[in-house]
Amino acid sequence: TEPLRLGIAGLGTVGIGVVKIIRRHAALLEARTGRQVVISAVSARNPNKNRGVSLKDYAWENDPVALAVRDDVDVFVELMGGHNGAAKAATEAALAAGKDVVTANKALLAIHGQELAEQAEAAGRVIRFEAAVAGGIPVIKSLTEGLAGNEITRVMGVMNGTCNYILTQMEATGQGYNALFEECGRLGYLEADPNLDVGGIDAGHKLALLASIAFGTKPAFEKVELEGIQRIQLEDIRDAADMGYRIKLLGVAQRSPRGLEQRMSPCLVPADSPLGQLEGGTNMVVIEGDSIEQVVLRGPGAGEGPTASAVMGDILDLARGLRIATFGQPASTLQDAPAAQTGLP
Ligand code: NAP
Ligand code: HSE
Repeated sequence: TEPLRLGIAGLGTVGIGVVKIIRRHAALLEARTGRQVVISAVSARNPNKNRGVSLKDYAWENDPVALAVRDDVDVFVELMGGHNGAAKAATEAALAAGKDVVTANKALLAIHGQELAEQAEAAGRVIRFEAAVAGGIPVIKSLTEGLAGNEITRVMGVMNGTCNYILTQMEATGQGYNALFEECGRLGYLEADPNLDVGGIDAGHKLALLASIAFGTKPAFEKVELEGIQRIQLEDIRDAADMGYRIKLLGVAQRSPRGLEQRMSPCLVPADSPLGQLEGGTNMVVIEGDSIEQVVLRGPGAGEGPTASAVMGDILDLARGLRIATFGQPASTLQDAPAAQTGLP
């Protein structure tokens, strides 16, 4: 069997994590898929940066679009970030050149997911994005595969590691935002623009993607009601704790008589509940369906290892020939998401 050949654009926290897994587990990956998984070429902005791992076996491209269309690349792995510019251009180029795409880029898919999924479908390709939602938790695979026989009634959870880390560490240490930002950076949790994290936007992107898969609707980030954690003060957290609650940035997507509600906002949850007990960068996603009732998934939501683990899951599916449609069903069958104003307090 021919090897599966990757082109990886983006060699930061996630990209280097993926390179490390492929180097560490080459034999294991081949045993599991019956194919070698190899890196043909890589790309990042700075060719001279020391990234702590040898890249000498891989061709280097300064331009991610050139990487995406190389003849020796079967799967384009987009780990640069950003919903416009290089990430979008290279993803489109890869699809047009007949490559499958694996990405961790929730912003790109929440905003341009419908057009990209349609392009993929027209080209007979798929875009996989397990790492885009809840880091290492295989939530997309759960929705598109294991729970695919259910009518999903609600998806909710804590989906941003940075916010959960900041909220829990503020409570535990009394530290303010700035010191905790530094720690989130060191842990590899932060988006390039951390306002996306604390503004709830990153978590909103994730909720829009889950809602699309769960309810068969076009991803509609613009219809997510959003509030971030910027207004939460230490005294709010302490007052909540005194009453037996914790503050979590909680997302909920559900059908209601008024349409599809998608809401991401700080909420009080009982301190002794599973959601209330989430510490640090841990995420939790709760999926409710007509046959399953409720499934709770919990795990590391950000950082090098967990995110690279999710990227690898997608790559290995492609190595095995598993080609589930980008949003779990053909993009052409996705319905418009009906807006529902729930009215944040
Ligand atoms: P990062 O550490 O900032 O790495 C980004 C990489 O992309 C860098 O290597 C950078 O090159 C490269 N890059 C950026 N713009 C480029 C361009 N125009 N052309 C070529 N290369 C470019 O980011 P990250 O944390 O790995 O995140 C990458 C993606 O994964 C984002 O979409 C993010 O939302 C997503 N994600 C991250 C996590 C996480 O925990 N970090 C979890 C889930 C999903 P240089 O190194 O040369 O600057
Ligand atoms: N910035 C994101 C977070 C990375 O903190 O959850 C994982 O998507």
